[in-house]
Amino acid sequence: MLPQASTIAPHIDSLYNFIFWISLISFVGVVAAMVYFIIRYHRSRWDPFKTPYITGHSAMETSVSVGLFILVMVIFAWGWKDYKKIVSPPQNSLEISVLGHQWFWEFEYANGKKLTNELVVPKGRPVKLIMSSADVIHSFFVPNFRLKQDLVPGTYTTLWFQATQTGEHPVFCAEYCGTGHSKMLAKVKVVEPTEYARWEKEEKKEKGLNPAEVGKELFTKKGCNVCHTVTGQALIGPSLLGIFGKNEELADGKKIQVDENYLRESLMQPQAKLVKGFPPVMPTFQGTLTDEEVNAVIAYIKSLK
Ligand code: CUA
Repeated sequence: MLPQASTIAPHIDSLYNFIFWISLISFVGVVAAMVYFIIRYHRSRWDPFKTPYITGHSAMETSVSVGLFILVMVIFAWGWKDYKKIVSPPQNSLEISVLGHQWFWEFEYANGKKLTNELVVPKGRPVKLIMSSADVIHSFFVPNFRLKQDLVPGTYTTLWFQATQTGEHPVFCAEYCGTGHSKMLAKVKVVEPTEYARWEKEEKKEKGLNPAEVGKELFTKKGCNVCHTVTGQALIGPSLLGIFGKNEELADGKKIQVDENYLRESLMQPQAKLVKGFPPVMPTFQGTLTDEEVNAVIAYIKSLK
C-alpha cells in the first residue's frame, strides 16, 4: 500500500476498502450461487421434457431491493462525509498559488518565493492550494495524500491537505495535456514546522516584491485606482477595502461572496456580476494581464483588510 501521508488518506482508504471487500464478497457469492444452481438444477436430475413451474417470492425480492438500497445509501453517506472534508479548507490554512504549464508546475508563496516542480510545506498544518492553468487543463494528483484536483485555465480551483509524514511525495499530472504530459512531475516536500519557518525566513531575505506588493504596483499602473479606492470611499466603482470574503449584493438583487473566482471574473468580464448601485463602465483586462498578474492583483485585494 502507498503511505498514508495526509489526514484525509486513512478516511479515503477505509471507504475504498469497504467498497472493495463488499464487491469481492458479492462476486464470490454470485459465482458460488451460479455453480450451485448449475449442479443442483442440471437437466439430468429432472424430467428433461418438462419445464418446472416457477413462482415469484415477494418477500425475498423486496428484502434484496431494500437491502441493496440501504447499502448504496451507506456508501453515499460515507462518501459525502469525506467529500465535505475535502472541499472545506480550514480558515487558518497556509495559502499557496499553483499554476500549471505545459509541462511543469509553478508554486508561488505569499512572500514572493517561487518554486518549480517542488512544493515545500510544513507538516501538521493545513495547506490550501489556489490553482489555475496558463494553457490547457492539468490535474494535480498526489497519490500519497489520496487527493486530485483539476487546474482549469481562466478559473481557480482549490485543494487542501494536511501532511502527516515528512519526506518527498510524488505529484503527477492526471489529465492528458499534450506531448509532455507524462513528464509533468513534481514533488511535495514535507518538512518539520521549525524547518519550514527557517526556510521561509531565509527565502524572504533574498526576495524582491511579494505578490501583494506586485499587485499594489499594478493597481496604479493599470489605472484601477482611478475608479476604486482602498480606503472605504466609493468612487465610480466600489471601494476595495475589506472586500475579500464579503457578501455583496448585485445589480440583479442576487447575493455573492467575493472570492478569487469572483475577482478574476470581474477583471475579465466586469459586466458579468455588477455590484448594485454602480454603472457598468469598467473595461475588461482580458489579454492585458497575465495569469501571474491576475494572481498578484487578487493577492493585493486580499491584503486590504
Ligand atoms: Cu499537465 Cu497532463
